[in-house]
Amino acid sequence: MTAAKAFSCIVKAKPPVSPSVIPDFKYANVYLVLFAWYQLSGFTIVCVLRFLPGSVIVVCGVFALYLSAEEERILRGFEGEARARALEVIVRVGEALGASRLIEIKHAHISGVSYENIGDFGVEFIEGFRALGARFSVPTSVNPVSYDVDDLSSIPGVTFERSYVEAQEAIVRALRDMGADLIFTCTPYYAGIPEVYGLKAGDHVAWGESSAVAYANSVLGIRTNREGGPLALMAAIAGRTYYYGMHVEGERKPTISYVLEPRVVLDEVEAGVLGELVARMHVGERPPHVVALFEGDSALKEFLAALGTVSDIAMAHIHNITPENPGDEIKEVVKISYNMLEEELREKMPTDEVDIVYIGCPHSSLEELMKLAKTLEGTGTIKARIVVSTSREVYLKALKLGLVERLRRAKANIVRSSCLIVSPFANHNRGVKVATNSYKAYHYLSRKGVKAYLTRISYIKHLAKT
Ligand code: F3S
Repeated sequence: MTAAKAFSCIVKAKPPVSPSVIPDFKYANVYLVLFAWYQLSGFTIVCVLRFLPGSVIVVCGVFALYLSAEEERILRGFEGEARARALEVIVRVGEALGASRLIEIKHAHISGVSYENIGDFGVEFIEGFRALGARFSVPTSVNPVSYDVDDLSSIPGVTFERSYVEAQEAIVRALRDMGADLIFTCTPYYAGIPEVYGLKAGDHVAWGESSAVAYANSVLGIRTNREGGPLALMAAIAGRTYYYGMHVEGERKPTISYVLEPRVVLDEVEAGVLGELVARMHVGERPPHVVALFEGDSALKEFLAALGTVSDIAMAHIHNITPENPGDEIKEVVKISYNMLEEELREKMPTDEVDIVYIGCPHSSLEELMKLAKTLEGTGTIKARIVVSTSREVYLKALKLGLVERLRRAKANIVRSSCLIVSPFANHNRGVKVATNSYKAYHYLSRKGVKAYLTRISYIKHLAKT
């Protein structure tokens, strides 16, 4: 993105974009903008977009955005007020970014649905749209929530007040009424979403959840920008998003290549650290090109999650993985030595006993659950608590394969629909030592005051309090 296209939003928490846009909920604008800010936070901010009464936009670098007759109709309210409002938000953000037009999407995935993360503002915002009669125009799935909806006691050390559960339930009810597929996972690609909705390389979607966005673009070739939760919600209602960034063929072509030397096969923890390093080194708006070998899909997942955690990168063009031509615009090759990666990892590994070993951020795949079960079975008694988070979909598959029983026998605690980061886990576990195989979990748990470390699944036996 060029500086002229970048922008920031400043909004008043009172009447709205126009008399017809989001008038009814007090905090809607603030909420929306905080997420828009979050979404765009890596961009150079040069302009100011103000939502003022009467639809006055004060902005430098706004370009005309072409609307089809159908989109004009929706904006005029022929498809209902909620859809008109949602589309207007998409149009305004598209205009501010300099998008030339909108694009229809085949699917949306909404992040920011955990009450822990969005609080009462978020409940009001989502319920407000439901009250307007909003319905999702495309198949829409949702991210994890604040607790395991099948077992309120599965998050270690946390008990939930009735009022907290009711607030989360209100969010879920509103999403369900709008037509959401309540998968409650950040790995929709392991929950069968691409297969169920026939999503294939080249298709356009609007996904929130940075790790899923990076996986969609980089591994599946499905095109999406990194939408903030509210913008993914708007896109789901409108059925469209702005044609910009990762939706545009030319914007997906890398110009800088990062090559790991020597070409060691990376496990999931090393992959996460490589993601961190690439994210810190990468400059420029095009996706980085990455030449490295990954042990399996879980390692790829961890690499991409780390990339999305440390930066606002929405895609990496991974050699021999990304299903599209990288083009021929590489101008610079940066070498990353495996030693550097090892050194980085050594600093983050525990030197002492830990209380909890946490696996499953982003939500575990079957492959990861199998590896964990095998490791635990060969390890003997472990005093550290083992916690693994996954989707209900993967859980059910694991149940059929007898994996759940094996994990439970090995005293692993399985969390479905949630995780240690979007639940109140950190508030109740300050000072607790957690070792994880996920760079993303390590990053967020540390920021929330938990003593976090990185470790490999295969090292669990060395961490156990015996
Ligand atoms: Fe998923 Fe929670 Fe990690 S939502 S990506 S397991 S922070």
